[in-house]
Amino acid sequence: MKSMYTRLVLIFISVILLSLVITFFIASKYFIKHVETEVQGDLIDVGENFISIYSKQDNQNGVDATLQILSKNFYLSLYDESGKIVLKNTALKKKNIKKEQILSVLNKRDVQTKGYLIGLPFEKDGHRYALFIQPNIDRGFFKMRRVLFFSLLTTLIIGSVTFLFVAKLLVKPVKELIRATKELAKGNYDVQVTIKRKDEIGLLASNFNLMTNKLNNLEEMRSEFVSNVSHEIQSPLTSIKGFAKVLRNKQLAEEKKEHYLSIIEEESERLSMMSERLLKLASLDSEQHPFQPTTYKLDEQIRKIILALEPHWESNKLQLVLNLPQTEIVADRLLLEQVWINLLQNAIKFSSIAGYIKVDVLELDHTIHVLISDSGLGISQDDIDRIFERFYQADRSRNKKGTGLGLSIVQKIIEIHHGKIEVESVVGKGTSFTIILPKNL
Ligand SMILES: Nc1ncnc2c1ncn2[C@@H]1O[C@H](COP(=O)(O)OP(=O)(O)OP(=O)(O)O)[C@@H](O)[C@H]1O
Ligand SMILES: [Mg+2]
Repeated sequence: MKSMYTRLVLIFISVILLSLVITFFIASKYFIKHVETEVQGDLIDVGENFISIYSKQDNQNGVDATLQILSKNFYLSLYDESGKIVLKNTALKKKNIKKEQILSVLNKRDVQTKGYLIGLPFEKDGHRYALFIQPNIDRGFFKMRRVLFFSLLTTLIIGSVTFLFVAKLLVKPVKELIRATKELAKGNYDVQVTIKRKDEIGLLASNFNLMTNKLNNLEEMRSEFVSNVSHEIQSPLTSIKGFAKVLRNKQLAEEKKEHYLSIIEEESERLSMMSERLLKLASLDSEQHPFQPTTYKLDEQIRKIILALEPHWESNKLQLVLNLPQTEIVADRLLLEQVWINLLQNAIKFSSIAGYIKVDVLELDHTIHVLISDSGLGISQDDIDRIFERFYQADRSRNKKGTGLGLSIVQKIIEIHHGKIEVESVVGKGTSFTIILPKNL
């Protein structure tokens, strides 16, 4: 596998190289095109000046001096009618002027241009001559291509070295994220990345940290839940085991036997209720639970449940105050049934004898409010924040029979219905639960 670093560096170098080659060719082509005519004009001027100096009689010194001066920047060569070289400056190294070129200049008696080579014909003392002149391309702006080449090469080298570092900086946080995800895959949810950047990688890192925090919380909740479950199962099992042992005693009074057996019965009942509720919660949590909303009459549903619970509130001599106007709702009937049963059972269970339970249904524009209040024992401020936690029971000695899962189930069902549950309570005075549900899902 090619690393991201190698890939980035390779891409950068290829892109730069390609652009430099293209730039180099375009720039030199442009340069040659634009400069050529200008240079040709200069060469003709220089040539004509030289011819006028050369044409003067007895001016050998002048010719030598001029050749000397010109030799820095120009290559000059002079041919006679027979094509033989008569004169050339010392700087001329290449003999790249062909015989045909010389003859053509001599015969046509006209200026000949071929790139940077100029041929000029002239006559002196009745003899024809051809002067060839070309620029010294090692000098002046002819060095441009080389300068351009070297500056592009420098750009490439400096660019590449800088990019090697920049790419390292770019890849570093990605490497850190890879290391962190590997840790996460091993099950280490504590892992955090320390990337403080404001770009997309920074955002990715902060989202990663957020995710691991959530996973960590989930993991903590999971292990707490498992330890709660085993603890909650353990205590009824211990008492069942203890009382079963005592029952082995054949001399035990019938009355006591009966009492112990009823405790065993109650505890087994509690265990079975707990497993049933745990299964329900697990199913609701999994989001695979069937959710089948239908339109039905909410007031009728609550009335039926109150009727079914009559033996319980009757035995506590509770008074039921109902305000249930006809109300239609779109919801999962079976799930909401659980909500009302749980809340009403709580209201009955935590009421003092001869108290009252009030149930109000209120229909607003888009929501339905159901208020279930009791004049019972109430919940302290410390407990009120925790009553929706799984297994939480405010006063265990007072409520041995419960599992502490009822309100967790209620909360989950309301959440599935996109509703809200609120609670207000005063110790010794009573508790009031308000459930707010959307009329339509
Ligand atoms: N109406 C109420 N009045 C006073 N306390 C309440 C009321 N409803 C709930 N609570 C407190 O909240 C705790 C949690 O209630 P929840 O329904 O979850 O569990 P439970 O009733 O104890 O057990 P289960 O519902 O399994 O029978 C209760 O143990 C009780 O302390
Ligand atoms: Mg309950």
